[in-house]
Amino acid sequence: MTRIRAPRGTVDVFPEIPGIWSRLEDTVRSVCRKAGYTEIRTPIFEHTELFQRGVGESTDIVEKEMYTFLDKGKRSITLRPEGTAPVVRAYLEHKMWAGPQPVKVYYIGPMFRYERPQLGRLRQHTQFGVEALGSPSPALDAEVISLLISVYQAMGLHGFVVRLNSIGCPECRNRYKESLIEILSKHVDELCADCNRRLTRNPLRVLDCKNEQCKAQAGAVPPIYEHLCEDCSLHFEGVKQCLEALDIAYELDPTIVRGLDYYTKTVFEVIHSGLGAQDALGGGGRYDGLAEELGGKPTPGVGFAAGIERAVQVLQGAADEKTGQFASGIDLFIAALGDEARLEAFRQANDLRKHGVSVDIDYLERSLKSQMKFADKLGARKVAIIGEDELKGNYVILRDMETREQTRVPSGDLVKALL
Ligand code: HAM
Repeated sequence: MTRIRAPRGTVDVFPEIPGIWSRLEDTVRSVCRKAGYTEIRTPIFEHTELFQRGVGESTDIVEKEMYTFLDKGKRSITLRPEGTAPVVRAYLEHKMWAGPQPVKVYYIGPMFRYERPQLGRLRQHTQFGVEALGSPSPALDAEVISLLISVYQAMGLHGFVVRLNSIGCPECRNRYKESLIEILSKHVDELCADCNRRLTRNPLRVLDCKNEQCKAQAGAVPPIYEHLCEDCSLHFEGVKQCLEALDIAYELDPTIVRGLDYYTKTVFEVIHSGLGAQDALGGGGRYDGLAEELGGKPTPGVGFAAGIERAVQVLQGAADEKTGQFASGIDLFIAALGDEARLEAFRQANDLRKHGVSVDIDYLERSLKSQMKFADKLGARKVAIIGEDELKGNYVILRDMETREQTRVPSGDLVKALL
């Protein structure tokens, strides 16, 4: 029989090996909680209309990348391609606008996009993200950027760059789009086929095309942040001021326009050169019109989402260089010889785990030498050895795997010796 493989564009993740994934999730939770964000879990699937209206009909995501199907009740259902529209839907559905504002939430979970798989681009990927709803303050834009950076810094991830832009409100953006169409229409021959289509449907997207000739044209147009209305301009100044107050370095980049239609004013991406062609670690921005688009009253909002696989890819590279600096390992391995000692090891391990010590034991009746090798593979920091003599004397031999020092520890004092 043929073996069944995972679908193209999906990966099996073993979060504990080498521990980066779980550490990243823990870090996200801790950084977000400290800033007053609470966790939200929305469904993996939603009504297709949520994304058609929220993300936008003319976006790549809605046009070609959604996993959409009819359920048995003939409803059009879509596996969520992103988390912002679902969070805003939940905010409106549960009348969260009636409570204290802003409402600040974070999420971690899988997203689905039918994209051409390549390094860093999956059909199921995992995002962590935050959304802050109910305040137009530029301090919140800076706060969400600072949270994303704090997560990377706490993980020891370096070498990323924050790219910042403002695409204004619909009024100033539409004015800018008109002048963009006017300028670029004179150069249609130099634009790729995609950009020729974009020029009428979504001209801002010409600015982030990867084609070299299109890039040259995009580089010659005046940046949008120099053509904002007074309100949007003041807001952008406020964001920059708050980022500077937090010592967050950023680069202004008028080509950051984002691939989702809901953005207003601030947009940003955090990129990393170690990622290759898909160089965005994360991205986000403000979406002051989204709640209204979804049938709610006008509600400002801002947030970001970042790919866990991409962060792990960068961290994994760094860990390999330093010979597994991120290997999680365990606190203790108990090596036991003989049936009675094995039972004692089993009992001790259970007891130590209750005290918060990470412990493993041998389940294959290996020799002492093999158990020591296995402990090494598990990354055990210490090994407790229990044989016949130790059992009789009610002690264990505790070996430090780094210094190779060995000491005798009374069995009852093992927790103390380890904590
Ligand atoms: P996005 O830029 O589409 O934004 O996705 C956020 C991040 O998810 C990307 O920067 C990237 O790291 C990761 N990502 C996206 N697609 C893939 C893929 N196919 N494979 C692997 N990783 C991927 C959003 O989704 C917005 N909801 C962000 C947001 C939140 N804006 C405001 N609030």
